[in-house]
Amino acid sequence: MQKLVVLSGAGVSAESGIKTFRDSNGLWEEYRVEDVASIDGWHRNREMVLDFYNQRRRQLETAQPNDAHKLIASLEKDFEVTVVTQNIDNLHERGGSSKIIHLHGELTKVRSIKTGEWNSISSNPPAVFDIGYKDIHLGDLAPDGGQLRPHIVWFGEAVPELSRATKTVEQADILLIIGTSLNVYPAAGLINYTKSGCRIFLIDPQPIHVNAHNFTQIQAKATDGMRKLLEILS
Ligand code: OAD
Repeated sequence: MQKLVVLSGAGVSAESGIKTFRDSNGLWEEYRVEDVASIDGWHRNREMVLDFYNQRRRQLETAQPNDAHKLIASLEKDFEVTVVTQNIDNLHERGGSSKIIHLHGELTKVRSIKTGEWNSISSNPPAVFDIGYKDIHLGDLAPDGGQLRPHIVWFGEAVPELSRATKTVEQADILLIIGTSLNVYPAAGLINYTKSGCRIFLIDPQPIHVNAHNFTQIQAKATDGMRKLLEILS
C-alpha cells in the first residue's frame, strides 16, 4: 500500500464552524497570539490563557466533523494514512482517522506545570490527563500538586512530536496539505522532507504556492477539495 501523509491546519475544521487563525475574522484578529498562545503569555496572565482554551473546548463540544474529516478517514481503505495535524481539536479522530500526530497538542488534555516543558528527548514524558470538554481554572491541581495547564504547544516551546512527524513525511508517497496557511514553523517546513517522486497536493481556497516537483493545488474549500482529490486518486 502506498503511504499517504496528510498535513492539516485550521481550514479543515472551518466548515465545522471552528475559526481559523489568520483569515479575516480569524482568531488572531480577536486575540493577540502572544497573550493567549505563548509561554510568555502564560507567565504574564494564566487566567486569560485558561479562559481562551476553556472557550475553545466549549466550542469543540458542539462542533461535528465535516465531510473533509470523513473523506480523509476514508483514504485508509486504499492507502496507509497518517494525519499530521496542527489542529488541537479532535475532529480528525471523531471523523474516523486512526493514526494522528498532533503537532501542537490536544485541547481535551491537560498536564501539571510541575512537569515542565513537554520534551521529546525527556526520558520521562509528562503524565497527561483527559479533561474532555471541561473548563480548567486557577487552583485546579494535578495529582502532583501542580497547577493544570492545557496540553498545548505554545509559541516559545519545543514541538516534541516534530521528529516523529518528520520521519513520517520522509516516507510519504503522497503528501496532502489541507487548510493551512503554512505560516508557522516548524510545521510548514515538513514539506521539505518529502522524498523525490512524492506527489504533493494542496487543498485551500486561497492560492498557495509550494516550490516542489509533482505539486498540484486544488483551489477549493476542504470538503469540495477532498471530493476532487478522491476523483484524481481513483
Ligand atoms: P491559518 O489560520 O494560518 O490558515 C488557515 C488556512 O485555511 C488558510 O490558508 C485559509 O485559506 C484556509 N481555509 C479557510 N477556510 C477553509 C476551508 N473551508 N477549507 C480549507 N481551507 C480553508 O491556520 P493554520 O495554518 O492551521 O498554532 O495555523 C497554524 C498554527 O498557527 C496553528 O496551529 C496555531 C496558530 O497560531 C498555535 O497556536 C501554536
